[in-house]
This record gives sequence, structure tokens and C-alpha cells, in this order.
Amino acid sequence: MDFNNKVIVITGASSGIGAAAALLYAKQSAKVVLVGRNEESLNKVAKQCEDIKGFKPLVIKAELSNDDDVQSIVTKTIDKFGHIDVLVNNAGVGTRGSIFDGVELLDRAIATNLRAVYHLTSLAAPHLIKTKGNIVNVSSVAALRPIKDVDYLPYCVSKAALDQFTRCVALELGRHGVRVNSVNPGGTRTPFAETAGFSKQQVSELYKNRNESYPLGKMAESEEVADLILYLSNDRARSITGSIYVIDNGEILV
Ligand SMILES: NC(=O)c1ccc[n+]([C@@H]2O[C@H](COP(=O)([O-])OP(=O)(O)OC[C@H]3O[C@@H](n4cnc5c(N)ncnc54)[C@H](OP(=O)(O)O)[C@@H]3O)[C@@H](O)[C@H]2O)c1
Repeated sequence: MDFNNKVIVITGASSGIGAAAALLYAKQSAKVVLVGRNEESLNKVAKQCEDIKGFKPLVIKAELSNDDDVQSIVTKTIDKFGHIDVLVNNAGVGTRGSIFDGVELLDRAIATNLRAVYHLTSLAAPHLIKTKGNIVNVSSVAALRPIKDVDYLPYCVSKAALDQFTRCVALELGRHGVRVNSVNPGGTRTPFAETAGFSKQQVSELYKNRNESYPLGKMAESEEVADLILYLSNDRARSITGSIYVIDNGEILV
């Protein structure tokens, strides 16, 4: 897949799936823009990307629930590269909670998983129209059915809304030649569960249960999800828009 000279903005590029996608794009000669909050991790990923083809990524420290920070992602990218070809809305927060835990948790989940995506997409869209570029949103199987083993209500609701956002924006931007798709992973081995507040022991139990219960008997690795992101953002997928791609080892079948 050729991404030579393509400018790819990836949110949540400091870790997990976003970092894996950054490395795969760098291998395909893309100019990557790495967005996240943890500067040390962003710089580590940037160094790894640079080592691949010698091209130095643009690193942007941004808190996605802050509107000025979101605006700065587009401004800095255009200042540096002059255009945007692909936006990967990957950053997400695993906000846990039940219906009894208060509405603030929903606000927290929506702020990152939906509002920031909505805002960044609206600012990037005029630039994507110019390049006939495309967007890949990273959602979850939690958008498609409730998670059974833990209370994840705010997260599930925010990701379900994200999927409808994908379809609606695909319809709206389709007439401008811009595609919008979604990758919906199931359990994937990243720091996500720990960041969501699970202890190391809980994570290892969760992984064990998932490995045993998934039809394919394993969780996914970040690189596999990243591969799908690259495919959807490439010209090979030029007839695909408004689609929700599940990559979950069969998790939603059981
Ligand atoms: N891992 C799974 O099992 C799984 C399953 C289904 C869907 N997903 C989805 O996959 C996506 C990537 O998650 P991951 O598994 O790779 O987890 P991860 O390793 O924890 O990465 C999450 C990334 O999102 C960034 N981020 C979170 N909140 C942010 C905010 N407010 N502002 C800026 N950046 C923010 C983090 O940045 P910093 O670390 O720099 O703060 C980090 O780079 C998420 O949308 C998640 O919902 C994951």
C-alpha cells in the first residue's frame, strides 16, 4: 500500500493501536502526525517512525477534550505540511460505570470518544475535501452490543454514537469525494484496560477469560487492527464508505 507523501493525522498515537498504525504508515512512506498527551511516549513513537524511512513525524501534544488543543492539531498540520490526506480518529477512553454511577461518567466518555472526534472531523473536513482524502474512526464491538463481564455503560453508549456519526458523516462528505469508515475492534492487547482502571491482576484475568471465550481462542494484537486502518484509508478501499469493520476474533458471536 502506497502512502508516499500522504499526510496522516493519528490521534492516540502515543500508545497501542494508534502507535502501531503510525509505524505501519511510516513503513509505507507516509508523513505522520502523532497526536496524544504523553509527550515522552509520543517522542518514542516518533523516533521509531523516523528510524524506518528517515522521515521525522510532526508531534502534537493535545488534550482532545480541550477545543483549543483540537484546533491546534489542524493548524499545526497545515502550517507544516499544507494538506491532510487521512484523519485517523483513534484516541479513546475506556470509561467504566453503571447506570447508578452518575451522568458525569457519560460526559467524560462523550468528551473524548465522540465530541472530540466530531470537532476534529469538522475542522479537518475542508482540507480532506481538497485532497479527496478519508477518515477512519476507531470504535469498538462495544458499540454493537453491551460488554458482558464489566460495567462499561458510558463507553458502550459513546462508541454506539460514534458509529452513527461515521455513517452520517460518510453520507454528508460522500458527495465531496471523502470516505468515512470505522474499525471496531474487540479485545486487543494494549494498555487500554489498565488505563481504564483495571489492576495488572484484573487485566491478566480479563485476558485469560477473553482468550478462552473468543471463538478464535485469542485476542487481537494492535498491528492487526492497524493493518485494517491502513487498508480502509488506502485507495484500494476507494469504493468503501460508511462501513463498520469488526475485528474481534469472533467476540460478538458468543
Ligand atoms: N484495546 C482494546 O481492547 C480496544 C477494544 C476496542 C476498541 N478499542 C479502541 O481503540 C482505540 C485505541 O485504544 P488502545 O487500545 O490503543 O488504547 P491505549 O493504548 O490506551 O491508547 C489510547 C490512546 O488514546 C489517547 N487518548 C485518550 N484520551 C485522550 C485525550 N483526552 N486526549 C488525547 N489523547 C487521548 C492516549 O493518549 P496518551 O496516552 O498520550 O494520554 C493513547 O494514545 C480507542 O478508541 C479504544 O476505544 C480498544
